[in-house]
Amino acid sequence: MLNDPRFPNLFILNHPLIQHKLTHMRSKETSTRTFRQLLREITLLMGYEITRDLPLTTQLIETPMQSMDAPVIAGRKLAVVPVLRAGIGMSDGLLDLVPSARVGHIGVYRDPDTHQPVEYLVRLPDLAERIFIVCDPMVATGNSAVHAVDVLKKRGVGDEQIIFLALVAAPEGVQVFQDAHPGVKLYVASLDSHLDEHAYIVPGLGDAGDRIFGTK
Ligand code: URA
Repeated sequence: MLNDPRFPNLFILNHPLIQHKLTHMRSKETSTRTFRQLLREITLLMGYEITRDLPLTTQLIETPMQSMDAPVIAGRKLAVVPVLRAGIGMSDGLLDLVPSARVGHIGVYRDPDTHQPVEYLVRLPDLAERIFIVCDPMVATGNSAVHAVDVLKKRGVGDEQIIFLALVAAPEGVQVFQDAHPGVKLYVASLDSHLDEHAYIVPGLGDAGDRIFGTK
């Protein structure tokens, strides 16, 4: 895992398998089907990394040989919250890893002129004692990511209960996110170069939603 001195709460997951899959996702030759499959796989791998520090407790079980205090994840239950629509492509991989997780949805689209997020749907599981993994592949301007975390925090969810998982981020967006939510950890597979004049990430991978769903 890499850090960037500019962004204390940004963690770059540089596992070789994650980087290899991301390269294939970036290529414009990659089909919708393969892109979707790779996103699922890469999210599972990223999910494995970001859940590394989940607290464990023990539970008394009986093996066929004897009883033992065996490790299980402590108390807090996980919720996966994709930011619609592209976040849906990531939630499948996370649910492969944690099939019992609850799923919330936050629907935000980016106004094409102002690039500001416009919210159209919020559906969340009960909030008590949960860890929320909010996922959206691209942190470009950072506005949607900030908005999604605002939605949770306005309902009383604490910084330490939220993990933001993205695939590719631009420094501009990470700065916006960090200024708004300095206590929320942001995990990405790559911190790219910059945003272009249309607020697309360069080199990026294009429009993640269009590439997942095969739209234009
Ligand atoms: N959203 C995307 O899907 N891609 C970008 O590059 C920026 C925002």
